Order: sequence, then structure tokens, then C-alpha cells
Amino acid sequence: MKMLKSDDANLKVAATALRKGKLVAFPTETVYGLGANAFDAKAVAHIFEAKQRPTFDPLIVHLYSPSQLPSVIDPGKISSTQMNLIERLIKTLWPGPLTLVFPRNSMIPDIVTSGLPTVAVRIPANSVAQRLLKFADCPVAAPSANPFGYLSPTRAEHVRDQLGEKVDYIIDGGRCSVGVESTILDISENPPLILRQGGTPQEVIEALIGPVVGMNKAIGNPRSPGQLPGHYAPHVPLELYEYRALPPATEQVDKEAYLFFDEASCIAWKKLYNQKLSVFQVLSSKGNLADAAANLFDVLHTLDSMDLRVIRAERAPDKGLGVAINDRLYRARSLAKRVGVV
Ligand code: TXA
Ligand code: MG
Repeated sequence: MKMLKSDDANLKVAATALRKGKLVAFPTETVYGLGANAFDAKAVAHIFEAKQRPTFDPLIVHLYSPSQLPSVIDPGKISSTQMNLIERLIKTLWPGPLTLVFPRNSMIPDIVTSGLPTVAVRIPANSVAQRLLKFADCPVAAPSANPFGYLSPTRAEHVRDQLGEKVDYIIDGGRCSVGVESTILDISENPPLILRQGGTPQEVIEALIGPVVGMNKAIGNPRSPGQLPGHYAPHVPLELYEYRALPPATEQVDKEAYLFFDEASCIAWKKLYNQKLSVFQVLSSKGNLADAAANLFDVLHTLDSMDLRVIRAERAPDKGLGVAINDRLYRARSLAKRVGVV
């Protein structure tokens, strides 16, 4: 494995490696992706091996321009009403943290789509990702660059620590600015269906194309395994509570981490319980949802590297990016049942 800085000379090296069937981890605005040439079934199989990901879980194909769409989708299977919605979404929200599900064409190997008749596609907004995809000039299949079910990586170091030698190159593009994965939208349903809440809030999509159905409960529907409970999870058990409902610490306070949404909640908790915490973090001091999303996985990685018995987190407000934050916390929580826990 080689860690590369994100200058054009290095990106060309990584792009050539992608074309030759190698695995390249790269930054996007959401999380780091583990990429392979989407037309190379053997290379894509290596992604599943590296992540220990079940092959029933399809991958997102990354492009740098909508002009590449005909190489992966089948426009003949899209109605004019759907095409109209797609055009509006693409014009305003691409590049960006929105994945659209299209009818696929026969060029895309089955391993990418898990044999589904559809393919999920997005154009990342991160400039390193865009340059890499342009230099590679092939569609790149890329899941988040973490072992299956574990926390997503938002820094190159997270990828190195989790996947290390299983990857050929890791491009270091610093910290991901959005911090939660893309929103996945299926426009073949009427009304369109959000398969995964993510970096593009439902309100933003609805302002463009009208009402959509949001799936924001963990229902275990394998149509999008990111919806499975027990995904995005740290090794340390995580308990999830409503906002401002975190309980007092026990006598093991040095083994218990508290994750507050904002400073106001942290202050209120300390006043209420008059306890000193040894490990605590605030997702966003002023309660800004974009800052909180960008910090979420980073903070969880930090806490997960400490010798802790439990992480106690509270929910964010259920609006805008808060919906994606709460979705990730909900799936990350330990499934052990406790009174008062969400
Ligand atoms: O932000 C993101 O989307 C990141 C970056 C790297 O782009 N990628 C990402 O990939 O989160 P991954 O593999 O961790 O999650 C992809 C999700 C999976 O839950 C998968 O089931 C769903 O996308 N998916 C892929 N193809 C699909 C399809 N044809 N229909 C429905 N869901 C699909
Ligand atoms: Mg993932």
C-alpha cells in the first residue's frame, strides 16, 4: 500500500492503477471510497474481499460527468416523467452527495449491482475525486473504504488503519467536508423513495421535485444494506438517547464517553448532574448540523480507539442533515436493549 498526496502527478499514477485493475482509496466530499474500475469484474471482486462485504450489497458507480451516464445506464427504460425529474436533480444537485438509482445497461458487470436490474450512480463534488475520475476516464465502483459494518472513514488515516495492505493506493485529500454518505434516491418509485438518508437533506430534494418518501427507520430491508441495523458501528457499544436525555455517569466514569450534540446540552447535563466527565465530545458547539455531520465519524473513530466500556450519544434535531446523523447513530447503537435508550 502506498499513501499518496493529492497532486495531479500522483492522481495520474492512481488513475493508471485503477485502469489496470488495482484498488485505490480516494476522498469524496462525503466519506473516503474504495475504488475499482467498474467495468473490471475481477477488480470489483477485490473490493468485496478487502471489505469482507457480502456480495448481495451492490456498489455505487462514480462518474466525473453526466456525459458518462450512457456507458452505465439504459435510457430506454426511463419514462419521460422520470427523465424530467432526473434532469432537474442532476442540474442542481450534481456534483454532490446525491446517488440516483437508474435502470442499468449490460456493460456493467453483475458483481457491481449484485445482479439487480438497476445501478446506483453519483458524481462526487470533491475536486480530488473529480480529477482522479477524469484521469481514469472509466466509471469507478466505490463503497465506503471501511470493513463491512464498521464506521465510515472521513480521513486517509482511517482507511490506512482499517484496510492497510488490502489497498494498493490511498490518496490523502484531508478531511471529508460533508462527513456522512450520499443520500440514495430511487426515482423509479412514485413518489420517489429515499433508500438512504445522507448528505443531501430530504427537504432540498423535495424543494426541487415535490414530495418523496423518506426511509429513516432501520427496517432491515436488504434493497439497500446501508439500511440494516448494526451498520456504521464502532467496536465500543454505543447507547443512543433523545436530545438532552443523557443519563448520569456511573462510578466507572473514566470508561464512559459522552457525545453531546451541542454545547448547550453539555452545559445543561453538567448542571443537572453536577458530575465531572473524563471523556466527552461535542459534535458542534453552536449546534450547526453541517459541522456536526462533518465531525460525526471522526469523533466516533477517536472514541472507538480509546479503552472505553460505553459511548453514550444523544440525537440531533430531526431536520436537514440531522436526519442522516440520527440515522447513522441509530444504526451504530449497540443492539442490547436498555430502558430509556432510543
Ligand atoms: O457517499 C457515498 O455514497 C459513499 C462515497 C464513497 O461515494 N459511498 C457509499 O457506498 O456510501 P456504500 O457501498 O458504503 O453504500 C452504498 C449503498 C449500499 O447500501 C447499497 O446497498 C446501495 O448503496 N446501493 C447500491 N446500488 C444500489 C441499487 N442498484 N439499488 C439500491 N441500492 C443500491
Ligand atoms: Mg458504507
